[in-house]
Amino acid sequence: MEKILVWMIHCSLAVSGIIGQTDMNDDVFTFNKISDDSYVRLIPSQNGPFHELSLCLRFKAILKKRLIVFSLATEDVPNSFRIMLFPQSHEQVTLTMSKILPIRLHRANFNEWTGMCVGWSSYTGDVALWVNQDFYQSKNFNKLPVTGVPYIIIGQEQDLYGGGFNELQCFQGDIADINMWNKSLSNEEMIDFINYDNITGNVITWRALKFNARGSVTINTAPCLPID
Ligand SMILES: *[C@@H]1O[C@H](CO)[C@@H](O)[C@H](O)[C@H]1NC(C)=O
Ligand SMILES: *[C@@H]1O[C@H](CO)[C@@H](O)[C@H](O)[C@H]1NC(C)=O
Repeated sequence: MEKILVWMIHCSLAVSGIIGQTDMNDDVFTFNKISDDSYVRLIPSQNGPFHELSLCLRFKAILKKRLIVFSLATEDVPNSFRIMLFPQSHEQVTLTMSKILPIRLHRANFNEWTGMCVGWSSYTGDVALWVNQDFYQSKNFNKLPVTGVPYIIIGQEQDLYGGGFNELQCFQGDIADINMWNKSLSNEEMIDFINYDNITGNVITWRALKFNARGSVTINTAPCLPID
């Protein structure tokens, strides 16, 4: 079933510092400007090793050459699980784990609301990616588990564990509905997320988010999500 998304932004809240556990339903993080110091740290409910991971989120970006969507660093590996967008390039999405997987999309319009899910298993090494209704996959990509304590940031790309930011790679725009799981989601579950079904992650839970925001980030409320 197709649902039309209407965001009616009625309030905006500047955030800074540590916030407890928040139900972010109907909220979005807005990164207002290009910077090297605005970001949100997401606190996961469990640490590695992760033998499987899935991540789903929605975003609407102000386009630039390079945009970080999700940056998970471990002490040993800064780009342990990273999603970058290259809107001007043919290979518009790259997933980086122990190596880089560039993915050329059939179509992309990152300056409109885009739903994205990535599922990965170290047992097969396989990656599945959904971008809106389009499916992509790569077999045998990465068989190394993600170990240690993850440092998870949106808005900036980590070249170091918890730092090493560069405004050329920052995200500008809105991000919402971030959920992460310690398992490889099925295609049906990822499609459910894309279609706005109410599924929530068990490592990062948008409906009970622990986060710490810094710099020029606001929380905007979209009370009419979704509208049938
Ligand atoms: C969505 O899921 C959350 C968490 O499981 C639950 O608390 C909430 O009631 C659900 N909302 C709807 C509309 O089903
Ligand atoms: C995934 O997390 C749940 C807690 O949410 C835990 O019970 C389960 O054992 C974890 N699975 C793996 C494979 O670590």
